[in-house]
Amino acid sequence: MINTIGVIGAGQMGNGIAQVCAVSGFDVRMSDVSKEVADRGVASIRKNLERQVTKRRISADDMEAALARVETGAEMSLFADCDLVIEAASEIEHIKRDLFNALCPVLKPEAIVASNTSSISITRLAAKTDRPGKFIGMHFMNPVPVMKLVEIIRGIATDHPTYEAIIDLTAKLGKTAVSAEDFPAFIVNRILLPAINEAVYTLYEGVGSVQSIDNAMKLGANHPMGPLELADFIGLDTCLAIMNVLHEGLADTKYRPCPLLVKYVEAGWYGRKTGKGFYDYSGDVPVPTR
Ligand code: CAA
Repeated sequence: MINTIGVIGAGQMGNGIAQVCAVSGFDVRMSDVSKEVADRGVASIRKNLERQVTKRRISADDMEAALARVETGAEMSLFADCDLVIEAASEIEHIKRDLFNALCPVLKPEAIVASNTSSISITRLAAKTDRPGKFIGMHFMNPVPVMKLVEIIRGIATDHPTYEAIIDLTAKLGKTAVSAEDFPAFIVNRILLPAINEAVYTLYEGVGSVQSIDNAMKLGANHPMGPLELADFIGLDTCLAIMNVLHEGLADTKYRPCPLLVKYVEAGWYGRKTGKGFYDYSGDVPVPTR
């Protein structure tokens, strides 16, 4: 029975996951590199929920009750009483591995560990922990409070009770689960990232400008965001990391990352989170950077 949920990482994904869990009535523990950073995650949750209160989607009392269920910290001991811990740290394998090494010794033996990885092998991450049977992929989409999907990925050793518990939890969070096999980038990113990469190639080869590529896909294919706008939203570093996982994991040149995407990442232009990517976000409206 899952009652208390830990979330490692208070960034864009982590605080979204914590918000959804807290609003659904679960006790939440959220950590980051320092308590201050974790508390900034709670401030983002508050801002999001205040918008929901203004729109009369939830009451102010329910918002305060949800926020009161979120405890923050920087130490792994925060997770000692958790039934499930969801890791939502950077998409860098050795960072995730170090976190699991530090996490597992403080956990209850029956606790489940989930990773929100968007592309890394669940089997490989699980194999390095003390509980491959109780390890699973739980891939939320951004923005977490809005997007209905959670991809559920079983590693080769994930046991059935763990899978069932996570499917049940996903429904309690008001989300729809889709099961994906444990192959590079699973389903959503296997399809979405090559499309984004192709949009960057379309820009790189001069077929269209940033604006025309995004308008073409928004108005011509009814996508809510154009592919370059979406890349900035996901983070260009994350986009590149996923393309590299596809390229290396499937050993097919069709997944080679566009050199222009590499260049943006090398410049530190990661998209919205750094204020600049395919668009510059420093003014009132985003302005294309080329
Ligand atoms: N956090 C929380 N809520 C947010 C939000 C955010 N960052 N951004 C928007 N919202 C909420 C708004 O509050 C609003 O809520 P209500 O309906 O309750 O009022 C709702 O979303 C719609 O927002 P807006 O009207 O302001 O804007 P919009 O209609 O343009 O929608 C969007 C915004 C939902 C983000 C939409 O543009 C969209 O669906 N974009 C595509 C998102 C997408 O493809 N995500 C998947 C990325 S891939 C991924 O995540 C996997 C990976 O591993 C990389």
